[in-house]
Amino acid sequence: MNILVTGGVGYIGSHTCISLLESGHSVIIADNLYNSKRETVEKIKYLTNDNVDFYEIDVTDTQAVDDIFKNNIIDGVIHFAGFKAVGESVKLPLNYYYNNVVSTMVLADACLKYNVNRFVFSSSATVYGNNTVPFSETMDPLPTTNPYGETKSMSERILTDIARANPAFSVSLLRYFNPVGAHESGLIGESPNGIPNNLMPYVTQVAKRKLEKLRIFGNDYPTVDGTGVRDYIHIMDLAEGHVVALNNLTEGVHIYNLGTGKGTSVLELVKAFEVANDITIPYEIVDRRPGDIASCYADVSKAKQELGWIAKRDLIAMCKDAWRFEIKINKN
Ligand code: NAD
Ligand code: UFG
Repeated sequence: MNILVTGGVGYIGSHTCISLLESGHSVIIADNLYNSKRETVEKIKYLTNDNVDFYEIDVTDTQAVDDIFKNNIIDGVIHFAGFKAVGESVKLPLNYYYNNVVSTMVLADACLKYNVNRFVFSSSATVYGNNTVPFSETMDPLPTTNPYGETKSMSERILTDIARANPAFSVSLLRYFNPVGAHESGLIGESPNGIPNNLMPYVTQVAKRKLEKLRIFGNDYPTVDGTGVRDYIHIMDLAEGHVVALNNLTEGVHIYNLGTGKGTSVLELVKAFEVANDITIPYEIVDRRPGDIASCYADVSKAKQELGWIAKRDLIAMCKDAWRFEIKINKN
C-alpha cells in the first residue's frame, strides 16, 4: 500500500516508516520539521535502501494536504503529526488544540474527499486518565489533567463519529504507552531539544554526563518501591504494531493498546540501564511532578487476540538501544 505518514520524520514516525518500508509498503511523509530534522529522511532511505517521498508541509494547511492527495495514490494514512509536551500544553492550550485537533480534521476531510478509507491515529494512554491499572480498551476515557490529553480524546471522538457516518471509513486508534529506545543501528532515535522531559532521554544524558543527576519525581506512590510505574515499550515494537494494525484494518473503529503489559518503576528502569550498559546513574528523590499518576500500564490482550501482535523486546534491549543512539548522535 501507499501510506501517507504525517509526522514521519519524528521519533515514532521515523521508526514506523522503516517498518512500513521493510514490510513492502511505500511511504509518503508529510512533516513541517517543527520537532525533527530533514537528515532523518535520508537516514530512513539509507537504512531501508528504499525511496521515500517527502513533503515539508504543515498538515493543518488544507490546501497543502489537498495537493498531496491530488498528486498521489494514497491507500491509507498514519497520523503522527502533533505536539506532545504535556507541560507545554498547559501553558499553550490553543496551540495544542489547534495543531493536534485541526490536523486530524484536515486529514480526515481529505480522506473522505479522495476516498481514502484507512486511517491510523496516534493516541495515548493518557486518555485513560486515572482509571485503575491495567488499562483496558473497554474502559471509558476519563478527563485528563492537561490539554494535550484532551486533544487525543477529542481526535479519537471526531474520528469515531466520522467512521459512524461513513461506514467504509476504517479507523485504528492506537493508544501508546511509553515508547523508549532507538533503532538497533543507533542512527535514528529520540533526540529532544533542550533538557528532556521524559525519563529515558534524561537518563541517557545523565549517563553521558551532560546532566549531573536524575531527579526522581516522588518515592511515596503506592507502587513496588514508591516511584512511578510505567509500561515502557521498545520503539521498534511500537513501529511494528502500526504495520500490523494497518494490515488488519477492517471497517469501523478499532482501539488497541500498544504496550508490553508490564509495569516498571523509575528505580527499576534506572537499575536496568545501569546493568545493561555498565554505567552508574546518580539520582536524587525530589517532590512529585504535578499531573503524574502512580501507575500506568496496559492490558495488551486485545492486540494479541485480534492482531496477533505482542511486544518482543525487553527492558535491557530498550536501555542498550537508547544508549547506543545517545553515543552515536552526541559524540562530544
Ligand atoms: P515527535 O515530536 O518526535 O514527532 C512528531 C512529528 O510531527 C515531528 O516530526 C514534527 O515536526 C511533526 N509535526 C508536528 N506538528 C505538525 C504539523 N502541524 N504539520 C506537519 N508536521 C507536524 O513526536 P513522537 O514522539 O514521534 O509522537 C508522534 C505522535 O505520537 C504524536 O501525535 C504524539 O502525541 C503521539 N504520542 C507520543 C507518545 C510518546 O511518548 N512519544 C506517547 C503517546 C502518543
Ligand atoms: N520521571 C522522573 N524524572 C524525570 C522524568 C520522569 O522521575 O526526569 C518519572 C515520572 O515521574 C514518571 C516516569 O518517570 O513516573 C515516566 O515519565 P515520562 O515523562 O517519561 O512519561 P509519562 O508517563 O509522564 O508520559 C509519557 C509521554 C506522554 C504520553 C504518556 C503515555 O510523555 O506524552 O507517556 O503513557 F501520553
